Amino acid sequence: MTHVVATAPYPDQKPGTSGLRKKVPVFQQKNYVENFVQSIFDSLEGFQGKTLILGGDGRYFNREAIQIIIRMAAANGFGRLMVGQGGILSTPATSNMIRKYKAFGGIILSASHNPGGPHEDFGIKYNTDNGGPAPEKITDRIFELSKKIAEYKIVESDPVDIDTLGTVHVGDMAVEVFDPVKDYAELMESLFDFDAIRKMFKGGFRMRFDAMHAVTGPYAKEIFEHRLGAPDGTARNSRPLPDFGGHHPDPNLVHAKHLYDEMMGTDAPDFGAASDGDGDRNLVIGKGIFVTPSDSLALLSANAHLAPGYSKGLKGIARSMPTSGAADRVAQKLGIGMYETPTGWKFFGNLLDAGKVTICGEESSGTGSDHVREKDGIWAVLLWLNILAVRGESVKEIVEKHWAAYGRNYYSRHDYEEVETDRANALVADLRGKLASLPGSTIRGMKVTAADDFAYYDPVDGSVSEHQGIRVMFEGDSRVVFRLSGTGTSGATLRVYIERYEPDKARHDLETQEALSDLIAAADEIARIRTHTGRNKPSVIT
Ligand code: G1P
Ligand code: ZN
Repeated sequence: MTHVVATAPYPDQKPGTSGLRKKVPVFQQKNYVENFVQSIFDSLEGFQGKTLILGGDGRYFNREAIQIIIRMAAANGFGRLMVGQGGILSTPATSNMIRKYKAFGGIILSASHNPGGPHEDFGIKYNTDNGGPAPEKITDRIFELSKKIAEYKIVESDPVDIDTLGTVHVGDMAVEVFDPVKDYAELMESLFDFDAIRKMFKGGFRMRFDAMHAVTGPYAKEIFEHRLGAPDGTARNSRPLPDFGGHHPDPNLVHAKHLYDEMMGTDAPDFGAASDGDGDRNLVIGKGIFVTPSDSLALLSANAHLAPGYSKGLKGIARSMPTSGAADRVAQKLGIGMYETPTGWKFFGNLLDAGKVTICGEESSGTGSDHVREKDGIWAVLLWLNILAVRGESVKEIVEKHWAAYGRNYYSRHDYEEVETDRANALVADLRGKLASLPGSTIRGMKVTAADDFAYYDPVDGSVSEHQGIRVMFEGDSRVVFRLSGTGTSGATLRVYIERYEPDKARHDLETQEALSDLIAAADEIARIRTHTGRNKPSVIT
């Protein structure tokens, strides 16, 4: 084993919810990955002889990073390292592996839905033994340690063949190359009625799943086509590529527009879905109807009992604050707890561990449950399929009946990307300054009932997270929310979330932007978006 004196460059940033994300050339600098990985190991205690799970979404630099991490894990004293074959392991599958094999933790190599390639994004994230992202006290420690790291430990060894299943040794550590799909597919079979779904496919049900040349391809092939009998070609773009075929592996209406267009066409399949780079997000589109992630959370919650894994009902539901209130109405009807957390999956971890909630979701296409501690794209698709198989109705029928019963939450997110940081900060400061004067005022004929800067009190560990987004509530359960993204890699991204609750069934078929137009105008009036950003329209509308 060699101790190498650590020299610059060091990571100059605290790893966020999604780990450390930088452009590939940054990670390629000599010692950079080593310094960061050693800082992760130094932040942990008691892993000698224990197991580490490792894998990534297959993006550019995945294989190189894996070889470095294997040699460093051996030098630092892990007893066993389990790596997905080919370096492939989706984020939810990593979470499952950590839990199932009682590993000490896991390292996920991904930059989620961001593009990959020699000049695109890469990322390294650490998950703890509950299978979830490292909590802030660990990421803080990693950052502190990375600033003063003096040396890193690495063993000299030839590259491990990560394409062949089996076990080899690097130093004193066993390296086990495993099938990244098998354990995950077994978990899915334990939760869902595969017989019912198989029967539905046999009866001619047509589905299109777009893996976007990212990590879910092998999972989709095995689960949908092999185990559930969907025809060959149901999973598209199923070969993971280092550059995702040159696209953004982001399953939204912009980057998966082809899927949307197909689902709105005359010969549309019954069900369309897609997942992102590392397999934790999902997009769901029925024949002729897009299901917003917020609605999807509500619908899945209302129907989850139809799947064997959830037949006893839900303990509670959690959603991120900017996610629409549609799920709140379901929780109310079911008489279960509803939790509103800040943006970012890590806030769900405590609630899931404490058994307070079963299902969680975010407006940004993330849905998941207590089966792992990450959001899970394939899981969401399977729960939808299970519900469709049991109810025997189309997505459109199910969604429209849901709206008729609970009311519809029209919802949209407007993103202003790459805004100069100073300008974005000025907008937020301006907004904070006028919060107190908003309640009671009338904007565009709509009465403001409340306005605040969202703070979250974690009911499990008592921690407080402040400044998590500014909410302006209007009469009738409509609202606008403003917050700055925490995941961007250049400048600031302002996200404006607009929501209007419409109880009247006769008004459930409006075009979304149209239905929200007054609130969109109100949002601009309140935050002076155009003036502050210098933009007259959002860069992305979802
Ligand atoms: C975005 C999403 C958030 C999600 C995160 C990681 O964060 O909005 O819901 O948890 O990516 O996938 P943001 O850029 O808004 O901080
Ligand atoms: Zn992701």
